[in-house]
Amino acid sequence: MYTGENVKPNLSQPQVSELMGRLYGLGPSKICPLPSYDDQNFHVVVSDGGEYVLKVMNSVDSQNLALLELQTHAMSFLHERGLPAQTALPTLTGHMMSLQDIECGSGSQKYLVRLLTYLPGNTISKIPCSPQILYQVGRTAATMDTVLSKMEHPNLSALKRENFIWNLSNIPLLEPYLPLMDGDPSQQVVKEVIELYKKQVLPNLSSCRKCINHGDFNDLNILVEPDSLAGYRISGILDFADMSSGYYVFELAIAIMYLMIESPTPLEVGGPLLAGWESVIPLNEAERDVLYLLVLGRFCQSLVMARHCVTLHPENKEYLMITARTGIRHLSHLWELGKEAVDRKWFQAAREYTDRK
Ligand SMILES: Nc1ncnc2c1ncn2[C@@H]1O[C@H](COP(=O)(O)OP(=O)(O)O)[C@@H](O)[C@H]1O
Ligand SMILES: [Mg+2]
Repeated sequence: MYTGENVKPNLSQPQVSELMGRLYGLGPSKICPLPSYDDQNFHVVVSDGGEYVLKVMNSVDSQNLALLELQTHAMSFLHERGLPAQTALPTLTGHMMSLQDIECGSGSQKYLVRLLTYLPGNTISKIPCSPQILYQVGRTAATMDTVLSKMEHPNLSALKRENFIWNLSNIPLLEPYLPLMDGDPSQQVVKEVIELYKKQVLPNLSSCRKCINHGDFNDLNILVEPDSLAGYRISGILDFADMSSGYYVFELAIAIMYLMIESPTPLEVGGPLLAGWESVIPLNEAERDVLYLLVLGRFCQSLVMARHCVTLHPENKEYLMITARTGIRHLSHLWELGKEAVDRKWFQAAREYTDRK
């Protein structure tokens, strides 16, 4: 999402090795890059076989220490309460994060470095999602938000993140980007979703319950592993970079949207996921009423931001537009079916799933 070429870190393997030794007293035997858009992540195996993720934050986000401290705290807070969140490990001097001056191609800059646990399993993107695992996703997301709502920390106000483009409170902030979609047939749907959001969601948010959202419960941030009893179980929750103040129903909408994207039967995703969610947090009437438009709103955010990234990085157009193109199909389909039909489908399937359990 960042313009500057020199924002994303570009550490070499010897630099990673040096950091691991100096900060953590660990000698890596193998270092492999992990995917990341804005940051640099490495899977590090050390000499005794232990596995870790070294996360080097981009130089812009590295400046928001209050927020990063809170994110790191939230990960431990969830882990201590039984959720499989990735957590940070201390440096030799007992710090959970450390700001390092590193020269990796664009002059010496400050990057925030954390060593995180390497969790078992694979990203949920790699498996076909049965109703059983979708139920678990909903249940885990709701449990996570319930636990986060009990968190106390002096930096909680850092989660306000006003004007954060990915917060579902900020759908109208997409408007200035709309000209990027000139000539694209889906521009009209995006415009209409934003208008409806302003009329039907914004005025009703005061009846929805507030909480802290993870905010990016997508299929690359959820790890799963086979479970002999249930099929699959959730073995990891990653990536707290988009945490912000929001509403319970936002987390649900975000999870439904991302799990729809790669599904061969996208309309079947909402029901079991909703059933899992409501097994922990039953929705109130206002929350039920805004769910459809929030899911569409998330598709719009993803689509418009993909376009924006293409203007910044035209060389990556093909890659950036893959998810967006699938998203356009789902968005158009949900839009054509309309709120009533989609709600009926989701809520009925959720009831049926719960009754069968
Ligand atoms: N603990 C882990 N266990 C397994 N895979 C991981 C782990 N941490 C990161 N990964 C892999 O690295 C990818 C990027 O990590 P993530 O923390 O989500 O960074 P980003 O903020 O760049 O998305 C994940 O999507 C996943 O495929
Ligand atoms: Mg991620």
